[in-house]
Amino acid sequence: MLWSKSLETGIAKIDEQHKELFKRVDALMDAGNKERFKETIDFLGEYIIVHFNDEQKMHADSKYPKAAIHKKYHDGYVGEFRKLREQFLKEGHTLAMSQAINKNVIGWLKDHILIHDKEFAVFYKGK
Ligand SMILES: [Fe+2]
Repeated sequence: MLWSKSLETGIAKIDEQHKELFKRVDALMDAGNKERFKETIDFLGEYIIVHFNDEQKMHADSKYPKAAIHKKYHDGYVGEFRKLREQFLKEGHTLAMSQAINKNVIGWLKDHILIHDKEFAVFYKGK
């Protein structure tokens, strides 16, 4: 499992959703064939949208001052993810695809949680 305790924000709803995200990333990494890869990339893609929307709603509800820039990070990620999905549909599961998943999907997610979601959690819990 890619999840680790260091990724915890202390906001139960966000942490649960992050765990689910990583579970879906795990499923994607375990996909043994093209069919399964397509299924799991869409399964993950759907949840990314759900999760980002929920987080952004929490930002708005709590009047988080960095809501707009945080949304920009989310939008950038969704764009990258879409590109990756397109690339997969065209080229299949190449080595470059695996590397991009590691760096752009998993690496980004971890950095984003550690920096930006934790920053929000400090704000949210201090309110
Ligand atoms: Fe976020």
